[in-house]
Amino acid sequence: MTILVTGVAGFIGYHVAEALLDRGEEVIGVDIVNDYYDVKLKEARLDRLVNKSKYSFHKVDIACHKATAEVVSKYERIDRIIHLAAQAGVRYSLINPDAYLRSNLMGHATILEIARHLPKCRHMVYASSSSVYGMNTKLPFSVNDRTDAPSSLYAATKKADELMSYCYSHLYGLPQTGLRFFTVYGPWGRPDMAMYIFCKKISAGEPIPVFNNGDMARDFTYIDDIVRGVIATLYNPPSGSHDTAPHRLLNIGNHKAEPLMRMIELIEIALGKKADIDFKSMQPGDIKESFADIDSIFDLTGFKPETTIEVGIPKFVDWFKEYEGI
Ligand SMILES: NC(=O)c1ccc[n+]([C@@H]2O[C@H](COP(=O)([O-])OP(=O)(O)OC[C@H]3O[C@@H](n4cnc5c(N)ncnc54)[C@H](O)[C@@H]3O)[C@@H](O)[C@H]2O)c1
Repeated sequence: MTILVTGVAGFIGYHVAEALLDRGEEVIGVDIVNDYYDVKLKEARLDRLVNKSKYSFHKVDIACHKATAEVVSKYERIDRIIHLAAQAGVRYSLINPDAYLRSNLMGHATILEIARHLPKCRHMVYASSSSVYGMNTKLPFSVNDRTDAPSSLYAATKKADELMSYCYSHLYGLPQTGLRFFTVYGPWGRPDMAMYIFCKKISAGEPIPVFNNGDMARDFTYIDDIVRGVIATLYNPPSGSHDTAPHRLLNIGNHKAEPLMRMIELIEIALGKKADIDFKSMQPGDIKESFADIDSIFDLTGFKPETTIEVGIPKFVDWFKEYEGI
């Protein structure tokens, strides 16, 4: 297979690309390598891919259709796409909405147009998010639940991506799967996410801000489980039928809502240092709890998460200490 991976310098993109290359697949990676968070971390991830065979990388802005199409035109053999490039993060969407409109709306539209014109593209797997469940209170979140009350612009752009994708599957028969990721963590993770921020502040002896007075829960999903789920999904394109578009949405999570305070406790144990907790009220755009119903992805691919936070958090902390030189 020849797979276009967008967002390859990002946390999930890097891991997925590495696993595909290790399986002997060809990967064409693209990323703008923007400075939403430390570029050095993105470059360090890219450095780990650069010497692998059947890998090529192009620095390009997917919001620019012409530049992206020019890159992709060299690889008409692409038969799968994993589209992960996006402006991620709920809170930053209140600060810089333009970044979300460009990367998540224009960028997604670009990749759809490119996929539609690629002669051999048999499946596009793209990143959606658990945040599309917005203000829903019924748990666990199921792909059959309504998703029309997003609580942030980030969530609204991800919901828009799902709608655009459905439309392209319907109009052009492009097989697609949207994966709603639930709080992904692990080595080479994102410095803007709570787990990394907490590790950094606790190590430095600084207080950690804990929102909603700690009364939050997240379905933390370990990166190795995510990679297995993304690849299993990639190999299983939806077929559609005469009256349905070949498009589907799947949750990919750990199927466990873990209390935020338990996450902090595990970090403290792994770091060997107590946290100084600064309790704060709920932040705008945030949700109290996430919890994935993963029956659909299990039925389609046999996906089952294998990593508890008791195992995954120490692995993340070990990597964090090495990377940060602590
Ligand atoms: N990590 C999570 O917990 C999580 C949860 C839900 C959804 N997601 C989604 O999964 C995908 C991957 O997330 P991640 O955690 O790896 O994020 P990330 O920020 O580490 O990776 C995203 C990558 O996309 C690139 N990018 C952004 N805009 C671009 C553009 N216009 N052109 C080209 N490249 C661009 C960035 O440079 C970055 O390297 C994103 O779509 C994100 O919204 C992630």
